[in-house]
Amino acid sequence: MTKKTWQKPTINQHQAGITNKHGGTHLKTFDSEIDGVAYKDLINQYGSPLFILSEKTLRNNARNLIRAFKSRYPKVIHGWSYKTNYLGAVCNVLHDEGSWAEVVSEFEYQKARSLGIPGKYIIFNGPHKERPILEQAVEEGAKIHIDHLDELYLLEQIAKEKQKTVPVTMRLNFNTGYTEPWSRFGFNIESGQALDVAKRIGTSEHLNLNGLHSHIGTFVLDPQAYAVQIQIMCNFMEAVEIQTGTTIESIDIGGGFGSRNSLQGTYLPPEQVVPTFDQYAEIICSALLQATESREANGKERPLLILESGRSVVDDAEVLASSVVANKRMPDGRKAVVMDAGVNLMFTSFWYNHNVRPIRQLSGIPEDVVLYGPLCMNIDVMRHHISLPPVNVGDVLVFGPVGAYNNTQWMQFIEYRPNVVMVRESGEVNLVRAAEDLSVMIAQERLPKDLQNTFKVDNA
Ligand SMILES: Cc1ncc(COP(=O)(O)O)c(C=O)c1O
Repeated sequence: MTKKTWQKPTINQHQAGITNKHGGTHLKTFDSEIDGVAYKDLINQYGSPLFILSEKTLRNNARNLIRAFKSRYPKVIHGWSYKTNYLGAVCNVLHDEGSWAEVVSEFEYQKARSLGIPGKYIIFNGPHKERPILEQAVEEGAKIHIDHLDELYLLEQIAKEKQKTVPVTMRLNFNTGYTEPWSRFGFNIESGQALDVAKRIGTSEHLNLNGLHSHIGTFVLDPQAYAVQIQIMCNFMEAVEIQTGTTIESIDIGGGFGSRNSLQGTYLPPEQVVPTFDQYAEIICSALLQATESREANGKERPLLILESGRSVVDDAEVLASSVVANKRMPDGRKAVVMDAGVNLMFTSFWYNHNVRPIRQLSGIPEDVVLYGPLCMNIDVMRHHISLPPVNVGDVLVFGPVGAYNNTQWMQFIEYRPNVVMVRESGEVNLVRAAEDLSVMIAQERLPKDLQNTFKVDNA
């Protein structure tokens, strides 16, 4: 039997937020690999920090989402919410699985087109669409969602100039009683505004209202909220159809399903609080089947159900590996670890307590640690509290899930953005976004002639 190594005893002051009698945070184990590829090898080849995507998880999530819904309501499509993660490789894995593109700006529209998505498979959302991109979207038959009256007038003008009748979807907002209504987007149902707008579209020679859309919030943990959303939207659909004579062909319920991440302030782990796709689907599809029951009897088709799920599809398909830069002791006795990745790369540190795992078995007594990023800014905290055994400079910690909203909301601030790789189902590893360097950072700058080489030693 080998003798255990002696560990110096430590006395730790009890602090709120760390391990306590209710459980709290603790590091269960370590993960040395992702989909069979060693983190160590990935870091050696692509550097640290490093974003790592799992193609397998991404595809499984997309398949599970569609299976859960299609097995209960056959007319379903998924519009991939580009803003969640618009890396080309991510989008194209999802397009390969049959997802359409859901975009909210000129840039995202053009990105979808550049990835080969025909306009008619693009759902064009968002409050800011200027004339040129709207003209293109009309020309290419995109599914345009109207957000406000000025957009409606502009679209009508464009349709008139092109002598077309453009099918449109209205974005709606209303109170389900479950989430804070996102009233700044679309038209409000309760005030009567939405019905007035539907009637206005009904009188237009150049617009045809054939879709309804709403997005009731984000990280919606009670699927019942969607049942209420469906009920409200279907009641509105009926009213619109009766009063304008139009036929609504699609109901788009936006995104908002929770991912396997721990929202700050949530006590239970995500496995216990976040519904599965099947749980969401069961309630949503039952509500939709019930609300549209009379349609078939009246000779009308049930509407196409559109899902715009973002985070629930991509979040757990990506991790961020980051290396320890330094250990510190704070004046209050707390231990701090400085990492080479911070909020510049992991914007979602502001909302989540990400799971953190070392890539080797750590030994020693766990201590409450604060994990700082590399930025020379006080806000740069990756985890305020985590119980962690001693780590050495160069040790790698893996943060996850990070697939949603980090590769789009990351900041070019102080540091270069690192490589992003995808571990393919084949086991191959592909670089899907190259690390930035100085040439990337200054590529868009233009230095006036008289501001070039201004420093002279004599001036200093
Ligand atoms: C219109 C719309 N669709 C889809 C999404 C994606 O939401 P989530 O990532 O929560 O699924 C959002 C996010 O804000 C949204 O505003």
